[in-house]
Amino acid sequence: MGRFQPLSLLLILLLTGQTWTQKGHRKGATEEYRHGIRIQKDQQASETKFKLYEEARDEDLCQILSFQPETLDKCSFNTSLPLVMIIHGWSVDGMLESWIWKMASAFKSRQKQINVIIADWLSMAHMHYPIAVQNTRLIGQEIADFLEWLESSSQFPRSNVHLIGYSLGAHVSGFAGSYISGPNKIGRITGLDPAGPLFEGMSSTDRLSPDDANFVDAIHTFTQQHMGFSVGINQPVAHYDFYPNGGNFQPGCHIRHVYDHIAQFGILGITQTVKCAHERSVHLFIDSLLNDDKQSTAYWCNDITTFDKGVCLSCRKNRCNTLGYNIRKMRPQRGKKLFLHTRAHMPYKVYHYQFKIHFINQIEEKQLEPTLTVSLTGTKEDAENVPITLADGIKGNKTYSFLITLDMDIGDLMMIKFKWEGIDVWANIWDTVQTIIPWTTGGNRPGLIVKTIRVKAGETQQKMTFCSQNLDNVKLLQAQEKTYVRCENSSRKRERKARMS
Ligand SMILES: *[C@@H]1O[C@H](CO)[C@@H](O)[C@H](O)[C@H]1NC(C)=O
Ligand SMILES: *[C@@H]1O[C@H](CO)[C@@H](O)[C@H](O)[C@H]1NC(C)=O
Ligand SMILES: *[C@@H]1O[C@H](CO)[C@@H](O)[C@H](O)[C@H]1NC(C)=O
Repeated sequence: MGRFQPLSLLLILLLTGQTWTQKGHRKGATEEYRHGIRIQKDQQASETKFKLYEEARDEDLCQILSFQPETLDKCSFNTSLPLVMIIHGWSVDGMLESWIWKMASAFKSRQKQINVIIADWLSMAHMHYPIAVQNTRLIGQEIADFLEWLESSSQFPRSNVHLIGYSLGAHVSGFAGSYISGPNKIGRITGLDPAGPLFEGMSSTDRLSPDDANFVDAIHTFTQQHMGFSVGINQPVAHYDFYPNGGNFQPGCHIRHVYDHIAQFGILGITQTVKCAHERSVHLFIDSLLNDDKQSTAYWCNDITTFDKGVCLSCRKNRCNTLGYNIRKMRPQRGKKLFLHTRAHMPYKVYHYQFKIHFINQIEEKQLEPTLTVSLTGTKEDAENVPITLADGIKGNKTYSFLITLDMDIGDLMMIKFKWEGIDVWANIWDTVQTIIPWTTGGNRPGLIVKTIRVKAGETQQKMTFCSQNLDNVKLLQAQEKTYVRCENSSRKRERKARMS
C-alpha cells in the first residue's frame, strides 16, 4: 500500500508534530476536567468564544459572554428559537476554516428562525494534536457550563440545542453532552467525521457516544486505515452512523493525487488531500440544508461489500434514514450503520437500485465474465450504458444481485435494455462448426438466458419485474442487446391479444 505513504507521514505529523507552538495551554487544567470534576468556574478564563452568527456582520461576529445576560440582547439571541452550535476541530493554522461560514450561512438560508453560534476554541485547538485532544474535555466542559447558564438565566432548554462538531469538535460535543449536569440531555449532537487518532477503540466515556444527547448521528468519511490509525474514527459512535461510499474514502478526493499536491503545495499538499475526504462529511451535511429536494437516503447494512450487492435497500422498520440535518430522529434500540453512495459534487444524492437477474449460462462448466451494461428508460430521463459489475463472473444457473446507482432521477423505470458488450467471437466459430457438423443450428449457440429482471428502487421502495419483450427469443449472445419491459404491462398486452383473437 505504498501509495498511502503520505498519509502515514501526516499521521506522524499529527501525533508528534513539531510545527505547532504551544500557546495558552494551561498546564494541568485538563487533568482537573478529566473525570468530569467541576473546578471553580472562572467566568473570565473561558477559552471558548461563543459567537452569534449573523449574515450581515460578515466575519466580525458578536460574542456572547457567560454570566453577562446583556450580551444575549446585544447580540440579538432569540431565546424562543432553537440553537445550533458549530464546533470546529484541530487547527493547523489557527484560523477558522471556510466551511464554518458555509455551514452557518446554509442554516440561515434554510431557516431564518434559528440561532447559530460558532464555538471558537482555536486557542486550544491550534496545538500539537495530542494536546488538542486533551483540551477537548476542557472545551466540552465550557460548552456545558455555557448551556447551563443559558438555561438558568433565560430558561433556554437544553433539549433545544443541536451541537455540530467536526473532527475533534465531534468529541468536544460528546464531552459537552456528558458533562452537562442534571438528568436531562442536550437535544441532538451531530459528529462530522469524528477524529480517530487517540479516540478509536476508547470506552464510550472517552469519546462521542450515543449517551451524550437525546439523539446522536455521525457521518464517517475518511476512515482509511493506515498504520493502525485513520483520520476519522471507524467505529460507530452514534444512534445512526452514516458511511457514505463505505466511509473509507470519498469520490473526487483521489488520494493518488497526493504527490501532485505535494509538488504544488509542499508538505501542505498532504493536508489538502486529507482534508478533502475528511471535510466531505461537512459538505454532505451542508448539502442536506441547501438541497431540500435532493435529500440522500442511506440504508442499514453490515458493510459496503454487502451493500454493493444491492441487498440492503430496505426501509422497513427504520432500516433506512435521511443523511444530514433532516434525519428522522427515531432512536433505534441498537446503533445502526447506514450506507449509501454519493456523487463527487454537490448535490451529492444518487439513486440506488437493486437488480436481481437469474442467469442460465448454457455452458455450465465454464464461468463467463461478460461485460454487461444496462440502459434504463424512465418516465423522466434515460440512463445509457450503465456498467454492471459482477464480482465473480456468471456460472451455471443462478440468481445474481447487484447495485446500480444513477446520478439523476429518471422517474419510474419503464424499460431496460440489457447488453452483452464486445464483439461476437462465437459467430465465426459457429459458422465453422455448422459447416463441419451440419445438423447443429445457430440457435444452439451458447449464450445467457435471462427471462426476467427484478428491480427494487431504494429511494421509492418500488419493486418491479421486467420481462423479455420477445419471449420466443430470450437468449442473449455477445454483442447483442435485449429489451425488457414491465411484466405487468406485457402480460396485460398478451391478455388483451388473447381476448381479441
Ligand atoms: C423571536 O422569535 C419569535 C418566534 O419566531 C418571534 O415571534 C419574536 O418576534 C422573536 N423575537 C425577536 C426579539 O426578534
Ligand atoms: C435451473 O435450476 C432450477 C432449479 O435450481 C431447475 O429447475 C432448472 O431446470 C434449471 N435450468 C436449467 C436450464 O438448467
Ligand atoms: C405499457 O406499455 C405501453 C407501450 O407498449 C406504454 O405506452 C404504457 O405506458 C405502459 N403502461 C404501463 C402501465 O406500464
